[in-house]
Amino acid sequence: MAQIILSGVGHTYTGAAHEEAWALNPLDLVWEDGRTYALLGPSGCGKTTMLNIISGLVKPTRGRVLFDARDVTDIPTTKRNIAQVFQFPVIYGAMSVYENLAFPLVCRKWPRERIAEKVAEVAEVLDLERELRRPARTLTAAEKQLISLGRGLVREDVAALLMDEPLTVIDPQFKFLLRRKLREITERFRLTVVYVTHDQNEAMTFANEVVVMSEGQVVQRGSPEELFEYPRTTYVGYFIGSPAMNLFPVSTDGGALVFGGTRLRSNYDAAALPPGQLQVGVRPEYLELAFEPGENTLAARITGILDQGSVRVVALLVAGEPAKLSIPRGRRVPSGDVLVRLPADKIRVYVDGDLATAGR
Ligand SMILES: Nc1ncnc2c1ncn2[C@@H]1O[C@H](COP(=O)(O)OP(=O)(O)O)[C@@H](O)[C@H]1O
Ligand SMILES: [Mg+2]
Repeated sequence: MAQIILSGVGHTYTGAAHEEAWALNPLDLVWEDGRTYALLGPSGCGKTTMLNIISGLVKPTRGRVLFDARDVTDIPTTKRNIAQVFQFPVIYGAMSVYENLAFPLVCRKWPRERIAEKVAEVAEVLDLERELRRPARTLTAAEKQLISLGRGLVREDVAALLMDEPLTVIDPQFKFLLRRKLREITERFRLTVVYVTHDQNEAMTFANEVVVMSEGQVVQRGSPEELFEYPRTTYVGYFIGSPAMNLFPVSTDGGALVFGGTRLRSNYDAAALPPGQLQVGVRPEYLELAFEPGENTLAARITGILDQGSVRVVALLVAGEPAKLSIPRGRRVPSGDVLVRLPADKIRVYVDGDLATAGR
């Protein structure tokens, strides 16, 4: 495995003069050896461009790509020892599963016995031992994706595993299974993994670290917990988590934040905040129903309840602002007028969309 460094890497497909308009704005980014990363963002934000620069399918307009301090910017994909899985499985349908897995090794002129050994080893990991004689085209989409992965894994010295929305063509009931299998494999092989997805849930459950992109830029990187607890911008707060983070307009009165006439206790000194449009963010998971007025409670009205499996999402108006609150299934939900509490230590303050530093 390798540590991968992007040094001043940026890309434009159209030759745009301004770097802010590039598909990938120039950036420095390090992918540590043996860690699993999710590259997350909406369609068109530059995820595939970044992945293809790592693999060598795209040569960056600017900057250098290093694998373990070796400059690979001018080295073609085939020489970079990358295992890749794309949205659609890349397999040879007429060949058997065995032949598909053996193919990269046959190309490298490995001796037959060594190929057989290696294919058996990888087939075992992928749970494909009983399918080795079958023509690859008769497999399910999920199994075909495993073969695409297996063809990368059979090679020695795989520098990294790159996956670009690999669950796209997988039936919903198999998505969970395949994702678990991919996790198992990445842990067992201690691979450096970059997993591209536009699905925040997939990113948060798959990766050690999530890299969030927006319009050609990395807006935040961190553990799933950091992104959940401290979204650096309202964009990340909105994009990560389901439902999205609640955002409420607030004003200040001396050192206090004020929302709907209520002075809020929080970890922030409102008097020390920079000027700008103020919002507080509170995750739906942390908003609480309260039974009597107290610290940080506000009048609210319940407008709907949505069942989401293990949790129920309650839609409400808090001091007239739309909000969501999620509570575990089985807890009774009142109707009509209620009180909600914004727990002081769960309040985040945003100034013009950027997280302010708490200074108490
Ligand atoms: N081959 C290409 N030629 C021109 N523009 C492209 C090409 N590939 C991607 N783009 C543009 O670059 C931007 C980023 O695309 P992409 O990296 O594919 O995003 P994502 O994978 O996040 O959906 C988009 O605006 C897209 O239209
Ligand atoms: Mg893409």
